[in-house]
Amino acid sequence: MTQGRFITFEGGEGAGKSTQVARLVDRLQARGVDVTRTREPGGSTGAEEIRNIALNGDAGRWSPLTETLLMFAARSDHLEKTIRPALDEGRWVVCDRFADSSRAYQGAGGGAPADFIESLDVAIVAHTQPDLTLIFDLPVEVGLERAFGRGLFETRFESKGLEFHRRLRERFLEIAKENSDRCVVIDATGDEETVAARVWAAVEGRLL
Ligand SMILES: Nc1ncnc2c1ncn2[C@@H]1O[C@H](COP(=O)(O)OP(=O)(O)O)[C@@H](O)[C@H]1O
Ligand SMILES: [Mg+2]
Repeated sequence: MTQGRFITFEGGEGAGKSTQVARLVDRLQARGVDVTRTREPGGSTGAEEIRNIALNGDAGRWSPLTETLLMFAARSDHLEKTIRPALDEGRWVVCDRFADSSRAYQGAGGGAPADFIESLDVAIVAHTQPDLTLIFDLPVEVGLERAFGRGLFETRFESKGLEFHRRLRERFLEIAKENSDRCVVIDATGDEETVAARVWAAVEGRLL
């Protein structure tokens, strides 16, 4: 059986990732592709438990190093229990956030050293690197406004300051530049239909 394809969605708060993950999954399924939709942190029973302690509570609850380890602990379980089994069955996996979020949030945002994060990536993600990463790019203020509009904060990260979110945006764009074989920057401005068309063009161009 041929391996499935692994697609990750990355970017800041309110960029429209979760909205577009749902649309892409529908569109792939309509084409007859077997798709597993998942998210991080979480995506397996154990990882969802870690998600609860990692994302809830006070904004400064975890040191950057501890937070990085929590994210990679969750990622390890997610890879073992959900992502690799699905890919081995030939299913496509569409994941709402993945390792680039650790590079941006825990690294650029929190100050965890980049080489620490990369060594965990080598050990935990190893060869299960995404085939395609869509980096949703949007002015920070617009994204946070959308996230506010969604209602209550989904995570403790949304309550961090503008400067924090600007560092994330910059880091995501840098990741895209450094990994142009894997990453496509998606202009996340415009309405849902417009963004969905950009997402589909990237998926079609790279994977279909
Ligand atoms: N293109 C868009 N234009 C305006 N609002 C949007 C768009 N895409 C999503 N939204 C809305 O913005 C909010 C955040 O979207 P969401 O998909 O949850 O973002 P993310 O998962 O990146 O944080 C939601 O209320 C969603 O309905
Ligand atoms: Mg989301």
